[in-house]
Amino acid sequence: MSHPSPSAHSSPVAPGDAPLAPDLTIGAATTTPYEDYVRADVLTHLQHPLSDDPGEMVFLVTTQVMELWFTVIVHEWGTACEALRRDDLPVALDALGRSTHELTALNAAWQPLARLTPAQFNAYRGALGEGSGFQSAMYRRLEFLLGEKSASMLVPHRGAAREYAELEKALHEPSLWDEVLRLLARRGHAVPAAVLERDPAERYEPDPAVEAVWAEVYAGEQDSDLVTLGEALTDVAELVWRWRNDHLVATRRAMGAKMGTGGSAGVAWLEKRARKNVFPELWTARSHV
Ligand code: HEM
Repeated sequence: MSHPSPSAHSSPVAPGDAPLAPDLTIGAATTTPYEDYVRADVLTHLQHPLSDDPGEMVFLVTTQVMELWFTVIVHEWGTACEALRRDDLPVALDALGRSTHELTALNAAWQPLARLTPAQFNAYRGALGEGSGFQSAMYRRLEFLLGEKSASMLVPHRGAAREYAELEKALHEPSLWDEVLRLLARRGHAVPAAVLERDPAERYEPDPAVEAVWAEVYAGEQDSDLVTLGEALTDVAELVWRWRNDHLVATRRAMGAKMGTGGSAGVAWLEKRARKNVFPELWTARSHV
């Protein structure tokens, strides 16, 4: 974002004698251009803790920060999907590369919550009622983009028109993985027709022929753009797996084996989710190279 240019200063400035300090009069009459762009006043007044516990604020803000990162990452993967559809690999790789830095920042955001004791978490847990990250629509879009589709995951969002419409659209759109497999097929690789023509609203199931395609790509020229794509996707997969595991460990520390506020078995359910590999054939193909 640009800073106020010296020429915007209202006080006369001799040529070649630019002021060091920002101009305090910009925005004084209305809102500042910074506020118009960042909406910081809105953003910093969206924190409404539900308990009197001073430790709840960082739980709430960390959750909001993660929601913002989910939003950026969904945006990047949307850009990557579009670019893959038009065979524009450089643009897709740029977006995937940005998303790996964003995933790293997302994962670093666990720090303030990673060592909650059960007593610290209990101080505000009751106030959360049945609220759970499980009900995050943006996280669900992120999972849908990875191929982890499930129509039943729309149910919690039935009462929220915009969220529901966005999720329903995302459910029926090809995932990032679907777009990658279509690109591989256009490049002459033997991706089965059943995989290419599958219903994108169904959860993606790993396919041995897709594993064979990746084994072939990885056995070939190491500087090919498809190996570069495979590695960018592996970075994404690893970082998503790390988010799931950091979440699992933070949960285990904060609440042991208690039930989740969203009604699941808690840690046991999260363990099952964290065991799943993102883009599974990219991992299993490695045994055959
Ligand atoms: C230490 C604090 C946290 C604990 C103890 C915790 C606990 C849980 C539990 C038990 C679940 C399973 C569903 C349920 O029954 O509620 C869950 C799901 C989930 N949580 Fe958290 N959570 C914590 C922090 C966060 C934060 C900061 C986020 C950020 C948005 C988050 C996002 C999610 C998401 C997206 C799911 C669904 C995962 C999936 O669908 O696989 N959680 N959490």
